[in-house]
Amino acid sequence: MSAVLKSVPLLAAMREADLAEVMAIEDVIYTHPWTRGNFADSLVAGYECRTWRLDGALLGYFVVMVAAGEAHLLNLSVAPSHQRRGHGATLLREAAAIARLRGARGIFLEVRPSNAGAQALYTRFGFRRIAVRRGYYPAHAGREDALVLTLALR
Ligand SMILES: CC(C)(COP(=O)(O)OP(=O)(O)OC[C@H]1O[C@@H](n2cnc3c(N)ncnc32)[C@H](O)[C@@H]1OP(=O)(O)O)[C@@H](O)C(=O)NCCC(=O)NCCS
Repeated sequence: MSAVLKSVPLLAAMREADLAEVMAIEDVIYTHPWTRGNFADSLVAGYECRTWRLDGALLGYFVVMVAAGEAHLLNLSVAPSHQRRGHGATLLREAAAIARLRGARGIFLEVRPSNAGAQALYTRFGFRRIAVRRGYYPAHAGREDALVLTLALR
């Protein structure tokens, strides 16, 4: 009987060389995407930036900042054709594990009230809403609030 080898996605440190592919996803999934400079600055600042690739193809990525015992998830993204297959949940688990390893007691994030899919993911993961930041995000017409969510890390 021959063994069937199945490829699995791999988490890796994001590098400058990844940014063209990162931006190709970023530009299609957000109305107000991060710029290449936002990612480059995150790399220089030493934030925890990871890519998630399957057989070389970029499926997703995240950026988490850990400082003073707290983590802030700044970006979590999955390519459109790979969404709803569990990658977002896996990346969220990895981001939380890295934050915990780096000594964070909790992880915070902002999400748009209009982003029901992301909210569903975070709620299912155990995040709870602690605040609203008024007019935090740019929007097509004016500004949009941000919901601030948090999860205790033990
Ligand atoms: C939000 C995002 C990261 C989720 O990634 P994903 O790989 O599609 O999520 P998963 O497949 O791991 O979803 C896990 C669970 O979260 C919930 N969920 C995720 N996306 C959802 C959606 N669009 N609608 C409703 N529930 C959703 C579901 O409970 C889902 O489980 P199910 O598929 O068994 O029902 C992805 O949709 C994305 O990149 N969106 C654009 C960028 C973005 O909004 N990022 C977050 C900014 S705060």
